[in-house]
Amino acid sequence: MLEIKDVSAWYGESRIIPSLSMNVPAGEIVCLVGRNGVGKSTSLKSIMGMVKTTSGSILLNGEEIIRKKTYERASLGIGFVPQGREIFPQLTVEENLELGLQVNGGKGKIGEEIFELFPIIKTFLKRKGGNLSGGQQQQLAIARALVSHPKILILDEPTEGIQPSIIEDIASAIQRVNSKLGITVLIVEQYLDFVLSVSNRYYVMDKGEITLSGLTKDADSELIQSKMSIG
Ligand SMILES: Nc1ncnc2c1ncn2[C@@H]1O[C@H](COP(=O)(O)OP(=O)(O)OP(=O)(O)O)[C@@H](O)[C@H]1O
Ligand SMILES: [Mg+2]
Repeated sequence: MLEIKDVSAWYGESRIIPSLSMNVPAGEIVCLVGRNGVGKSTSLKSIMGMVKTTSGSILLNGEEIIRKKTYERASLGIGFVPQGREIFPQLTVEENLELGLQVNGGKGKIGEEIFELFPIIKTFLKRKGGNLSGGQQQQLAIARALVSHPKILILDEPTEGIQPSIIEDIASAIQRVNSKLGITVLIVEQYLDFVLSVSNRYYVMDKGEITLSGLTKDADSELIQSKMSIG
């Protein structure tokens, strides 16, 4: 589904990612973990075309997208939920969702499956986004990314700043997005137990490089944790 090969990513003159290679097979849930500041968000922004990438290849279902604009990548089927959610607090929940339709040129409507996944969103359609709790805003951000029917959903730290009781809901929503809607998922996280419980495959990043990867079923979570805490 998504094949990233030898991608380097930069902010201005600083190279944050020297050479990233990762595979996200169709139908799977893949996670990228690592401590603060190692380059996880930059990796996702490379996939979305939001940072400068000077070399490498990013294939989406075999098609090279590395030189495409962010909106083109989105319309090819990559849904992105950024770190910090970035919903519009002054707009209603419904208006926030409608923005997600822009990916398809504003065509289509919000599918009933969105409300089945997140019943709270339907209840709160007329509320301002800013009046929702952190967990509800995260659900809204995921829902907004789903309204355009992406093939792959990319989430940047979906549990950040969310109460433990709601994290379970986010986990089950991600699993249902994958199993019921058939959408491939790539999650960046620091909360290891959470991502290992939902993913099939993991990548550990340190200082812009992948230091460990494998299938989650074979994962040694203590080893991963140690890789995440080495300074
Ligand atoms: N807009 C920017 N301009 C310059 N440098 C940046 C910018 N954004 C991030 N960086 C730097 O790039 C490096 C990687 O940042 P990135 O946000 O990708 O890390 P991260 O793994 O997502 O961290 P976190 O877990 O805190 O979200 C850091 O050293 C950071 O200071
Ligand atoms: Mg980040």
